[in-house]
Amino acid sequence: MLKNVFIKTFGCQMNERDSEIMGQILSSHGYVECNDMESADLVILNTCTIRAKAEQKVMSLLGALRKIKTQRPGMKICVAGCVAQQEGDHLIQRMPHVDLVLGTQNIYDLGTYIARTTETGRPVIATGMSKAFQIPAFLPTDREAIGSTGDLHPFRRFVTIMQGCDNYCSYCVVPYTRGREISRSAQDIVAEVRKFVDQGVKEITLLGQNVNSYGRKPNGTARPCSFPELLHQVAEIRGLHRLRFTTSHPKDLSNELIGCFRDIAILCPQFHLPVQSGSDAVLKRMNRHYTVADYLERVEALFACRPDLALTTDIIVGFPGETDEDFALTMDLLERVRFHGSFSFKYSDRPGVRSCNFDGKISEQVKSERLAIFQRRQDEISLERNGAYVGSRQEIMIESTGDSGFQGRTGTNHIVHVDQHTDLGPGDPLEVEIYHAGQHSLKGRFHPKH
Ligand code: 5AD
Ligand code: SF4
Repeated sequence: MLKNVFIKTFGCQMNERDSEIMGQILSSHGYVECNDMESADLVILNTCTIRAKAEQKVMSLLGALRKIKTQRPGMKICVAGCVAQQEGDHLIQRMPHVDLVLGTQNIYDLGTYIARTTETGRPVIATGMSKAFQIPAFLPTDREAIGSTGDLHPFRRFVTIMQGCDNYCSYCVVPYTRGREISRSAQDIVAEVRKFVDQGVKEITLLGQNVNSYGRKPNGTARPCSFPELLHQVAEIRGLHRLRFTTSHPKDLSNELIGCFRDIAILCPQFHLPVQSGSDAVLKRMNRHYTVADYLERVEALFACRPDLALTTDIIVGFPGETDEDFALTMDLLERVRFHGSFSFKYSDRPGVRSCNFDGKISEQVKSERLAIFQRRQDEISLERNGAYVGSRQEIMIESTGDSGFQGRTGTNHIVHVDQHTDLGPGDPLEVEIYHAGQHSLKGRFHPKH
């Protein structure tokens, strides 16, 4: 008899892709995905620990699951991903109702570990990490591409090209939770993308913690290839309409990669380039290996290559030792670059990272004030940036349709609402004229062809 699995994903797109892979593995072990946690036979929380808040969300859901499990003792609970990796057996001590703690390199053996929890009747902890870890070739099944994994946009998929990080930014837990950097072979990646495209996928986002260092440490004996070379190879796959990637580190951003925005027609004009701070002193303590001047020079080169690029970034406010002057420099940087959008966070101590031991911790109140100032100004700039699209024509890819209109996304990754009827469907391209800009989305209209 088929069993129900409920998968809840926290955090980044890498986790979203890992959740899809876990769903696919489980479907070959007799599970189907369901949307109702309370009636599931197996609940998987695929977790994130990048900031304290992300971890708290997981812990409170685990608390709620404890109650549900008392009513339904047969239910199995698996904690996968970064919290699992970080906490290991501590998690079982705190949450004894958890059956499986599954580390980031162990998800591919999920089926075996679930079976082991049944055989032994005891919690299983699978968080081993190996320097010799290889990301297995993982082809999507037919079932996956038709959208039965719960993905609303079956024409848009993520493909992981590398895992882990060797940069050791002083605040970041990723090198500990995701392990050493390792790149998949270009051959495996191209095969995975081709399979998706054969099944109707139109847009692919290549994922890695630091895609610019792709190929530096290849999987097994694979022939090394650079990230720009990989982009060219993937872009040649017939039937693929849009290509994106994330995330990049400014220190490794080569001219060759910047040139891809000019040379590869299907590469979308959207770039996420986390800067973290506008102060050289803070960047140095963050161990970022670039200065604000270096960053600005790269941004200039990007816009010279692709003037219509939409640039987004990540910012941390209240890093230990950040003075009012340092924060003012971050605000200056925002004024100079005028990012199209940004993700900004209050610094939070993470277990085992170097900045935990830094002097000059900033109070919550000051962090909150700085975050509010930054976000307020970013919102204004985003609105101004969006306003610049009014009157322009943009190609959107339709995402969803309804009775009162439809919604699509531009190459720059802006959502566009259209309140007209169309016979086109999700995944179809359409040219629209933008007539209104909001902070987070645009409005457009199209001229029906007669
Ligand atoms: N505190 C706050 N923000 C953090 N980030 C990573 N680690 C921390 C931390 N300890 C942010 C960075 C990164 C994004 C994914 O999360 O801005 O780019
Ligand atoms: Fe973390 Fe820095 Fe690696 Fe990004 S580059 S994952 S911030 S260590």
